[in-house]
Amino acid sequence: MSDIHNLNAALGRGVVVTEEGRPAPLPDQGIGHPARRMDGPEKVTGRARYAGEIAPRDVLHAVLVGAPIPKGRVTEINSSETMDHPGVVRVLTHVDMPEFAEPPVPPFAQNLVPLGTDRIHYEGQPIAAVLAETLEAAEEGAALLAVNCAAEEFGTFESSSVHHPEGTAFAFQPLDQESGDVDAAIKDADAVVDESYKTASRHHNMMEPHSTVAEWRDGHLHIWDATQWTYGVRYALAAIVGYETENMTVTCPFTGGGFGGKGYIWPHQVLTPVFAKIVGRPVKLSLGRAGCYTGNGYQPRIVSRIRLAADQKGKLVALDHASENITSVMDNYVEFATATSRATYSVPNYRFRTRVRAANVGTPTPMRAPHEGPGSFATESAIDELAYKLGIDPLQIRLTNYAETDLISGKPFSSKKLREAYNIGAERFGWRNRSAEPRSQTRNGKFIGHGVATGVMATFRHLSAARVVLEAGGGIVIEAGTQELGTGVRTVLPQIAAETLRVPLDHVRIELGSTSLLETAGTFGSGTSIGTGSAVAVASTNLLDRIRTLSGGNDVPAYSEWSDLLSGNGIERLSADGTYGPEDGAPFDAHGSLSEYAMHSYGAVFVEVEVDEELGTARMLRAVGCYSAGKILNPVTARSQMIGGIIWGYGRAMLEQSAMDPTYGRYLSKDLSGVLVPVNADIPGNIDVSFIDEYDPHCSTIGVRGIGELGDVGVSPAITNAIFHACGRRIRELPVQIRHLLED
Ligand code: MOS
Repeated sequence: MSDIHNLNAALGRGVVVTEEGRPAPLPDQGIGHPARRMDGPEKVTGRARYAGEIAPRDVLHAVLVGAPIPKGRVTEINSSETMDHPGVVRVLTHVDMPEFAEPPVPPFAQNLVPLGTDRIHYEGQPIAAVLAETLEAAEEGAALLAVNCAAEEFGTFESSSVHHPEGTAFAFQPLDQESGDVDAAIKDADAVVDESYKTASRHHNMMEPHSTVAEWRDGHLHIWDATQWTYGVRYALAAIVGYETENMTVTCPFTGGGFGGKGYIWPHQVLTPVFAKIVGRPVKLSLGRAGCYTGNGYQPRIVSRIRLAADQKGKLVALDHASENITSVMDNYVEFATATSRATYSVPNYRFRTRVRAANVGTPTPMRAPHEGPGSFATESAIDELAYKLGIDPLQIRLTNYAETDLISGKPFSSKKLREAYNIGAERFGWRNRSAEPRSQTRNGKFIGHGVATGVMATFRHLSAARVVLEAGGGIVIEAGTQELGTGVRTVLPQIAAETLRVPLDHVRIELGSTSLLETAGTFGSGTSIGTGSAVAVASTNLLDRIRTLSGGNDVPAYSEWSDLLSGNGIERLSADGTYGPEDGAPFDAHGSLSEYAMHSYGAVFVEVEVDEELGTARMLRAVGCYSAGKILNPVTARSQMIGGIIWGYGRAMLEQSAMDPTYGRYLSKDLSGVLVPVNADIPGNIDVSFIDEYDPHCSTIGVRGIGELGDVGVSPAITNAIFHACGRRIRELPVQIRHLLED
């Protein structure tokens, strides 16, 4: 193992290992090279400019005013004091809006016309906007706005009834699936676990709150936006407001995190250009931190009931998973918490049911590792309970039920090296040295526990295009509409071009984040490397063809000759386009449903915790994640993704929840002092990340699958499984609270 650890240090501790656990050879320059982030210096020196920092001449600042109650009607808005406030220019309400068409969901996030009615469906729903010469004047003016409402009795998760979300716009898989006879198999089984598992609502808390700047110039709309989907902004505006697509340019220079909160399009993005048109001046609308608790969705609270049954040896005979998540009264947002149960183990009898409960809350939305992230807490807790019930090693029961083909479709996997990930992860963690009994390991007066869980994340393949250009002088430029929200696309896409073209990496740069460049999908579903990455590879191959044709030879000339080749032919720029998409020209595919192969990414997560029963606290001491995710483009940026995901999962397990106030019908916290998120002091330095050396020949043209969300999946159950091993307390509700570790 010492070789691996030396390599670990060299790579910034991300490491690619072979199936036998040896370090894979390091390529230089191209795919697999641990290149440093090309935009790192720009970001850490503050030179990177974000949408909210764009300030056109004469820009007005807008502040949205949200409904103070969760249900009812606005009866009066008196703006006289607001208008008297120095600097305030205009107050706008639904009566000032042009006629809006019904929002298409997606790209719009919810089925409610923005600022379109006096009806109130959730606390914080925009009911007015104040526009002023300065942000301060707009905020002060908003505070002076006199709003009267007629309140009605509102619905909550508890008061609502469970319903079948027929025709939901958010269907990534069927709501219900069933095979065999679950009830009969459970009746005859040797061991049964029948429990409910709960996860909390939680908001995204990305570093950069939403910001949109809109300016009309000679009839053309320019938008600067913090988004995960530049093209989606344009689609939403065209469909809802009727603006001409070719008259809009959306630019997103950098996005300061999104985690899904900036994936779909929210009211402020549609309203800002409309406000700018009404007042005839550029408008900037930044939601601010508090606005991110009502201006975008959140991960909904979920209750899952699982019935899991096995024989004496731990072989599963039945799996029944029914989930319910909170949604709004406007939309059937479905969180497929059953996703992990559908995709992880081999089981002859299964039944999956996905239901919702509608309340007067904003519409939830995907949040990093939607579905599988919270779903894994249920699936991976239940199988752990089963292992202890049967006296079987928790890792062994997972290997016993290893799925060789996809449970639902029966199809083979595009590539799956989860068995290797379990084995290498267990080796790196030292799993087999642990004492099996709960409450049997102590250190410094505290209980020590070891837990394991499987991570399985869906694969999303999106239609995407890219252009690769050879410039005079020999520089290579990638041009693609895609946006960068911290994942490393400004580094890994050039690596793909450098690899395909056999050009030094520092001769490749990228222009991205604009609808003036070729269309790519949104940055979501861990799909950018698969979609845009493949498009860059195809475009690079096409460029090689053009260079060869230009040279008149049978072979592509050496890179050192390309510059002369261009100038000799009097050409400034030679470019080629490339497209990647799922089968049949479809714009989008989930889980490989259009392919003859099922597609998922995999992880094996091991954690060590320490439980102090006197204080009722638990700490994560170390974590090991080993992943099967196809080719790894860059072990440094990939490691960052995975440790980010592990911290994300720790947050769900131990800290994060957006609590609902039952009296006022609002999420209680609207800032980072009231919501707990992990900080450095919570996270051990000892996080070990490795990847199985793998090439997926079916998922993309460059061998990759998705990794951006995978790191979260399995982390929260690994932590609570470790807590059970430490002290014998089974926790079925997140986040873990002091009372869970104190009460008898
Ligand atoms: Mo991610 S929740 O698909 O942005």
